[in-house]
Amino acid sequence: PLLIVLLCALAYLAGSVLFALEICKLWKLPDPRALGSGNPGATNVYRNGGWAPAVLTLLLDAAKGFGPVWLANAAGLSILAQAMVALCAVTGHMVPIFYRFKGGKGVATALGSGLALAPLTTLLLAVIWALVMWRWRISALASIIAIVSGPLISALIEPKTLPLFGLLAILIVVRHRNNLVRLAQGRETRF
Ligand code: G3P
Repeated sequence: PLLIVLLCALAYLAGSVLFALEICKLWKLPDPRALGSGNPGATNVYRNGGWAPAVLTLLLDAAKGFGPVWLANAAGLSILAQAMVALCAVTGHMVPIFYRFKGGKGVATALGSGLALAPLTTLLLAVIWALVMWRWRISALASIIAIVSGPLISALIEPKTLPLFGLLAILIVVRHRNNLVRLAQGRETRF
C-alpha cells in the first residue's frame, strides 16, 4: 500500500508538469493559455507554434502518464493499483499543483498511461482518433469519440481495465465541455 501511495503521488506530480507551457517557454512561443482554445495541450501548441513543439508536447505529456504506470507494473502492482496510478497522472494534468490547479484535458496523458496498462485498447483508440481526425480535422471531436469508445473496446479485449477507461471517458468528456458547445454550434476549429 505504501508503494501504491508513493507511485500515485509521483504520478500526480509528474502529471502536474504541463509540457505545453514549458516547451512554449523554451521555444519562445506565446503562452498557449492566452491563444487559440486557451488549452495547455499539444493541439493548441500546434495552432500557435506548428508541428515540432506540438509533437514534443504530445510525447512528453504522454511520457508522464506512461512512466509511473510502467513503474507500477514493473513493481508487480495489481491492474487496479496501476489504474489508480494512471488516474493520478491524468488528474495531475487536469488540476496541476504547479499551475494553480488550472490544467488541460488529459488526452495525451491518458494515451501514455493507457499504452502502459492496456496497449491493445489504447492503440485501437489511437487509430479511432486518427480516423476521425483524418475525416473531420477536428482534434477535440477525435479525442471525444476515441475516449467514449474506450469502455466498449476495453470491455471486449482488456476487460480488467474497463473501470479505468470508464473513469477516463467521464473525466475527459467533462474537460471537453467547451469544445462540445463549440461543436454543437459548428464553431470548433478545423485543421
Ligand atoms: O487534447 C485536447 C484536444 O482534444 C482539444 O484541444 O485545444 O482544440 O481544445 P483544443
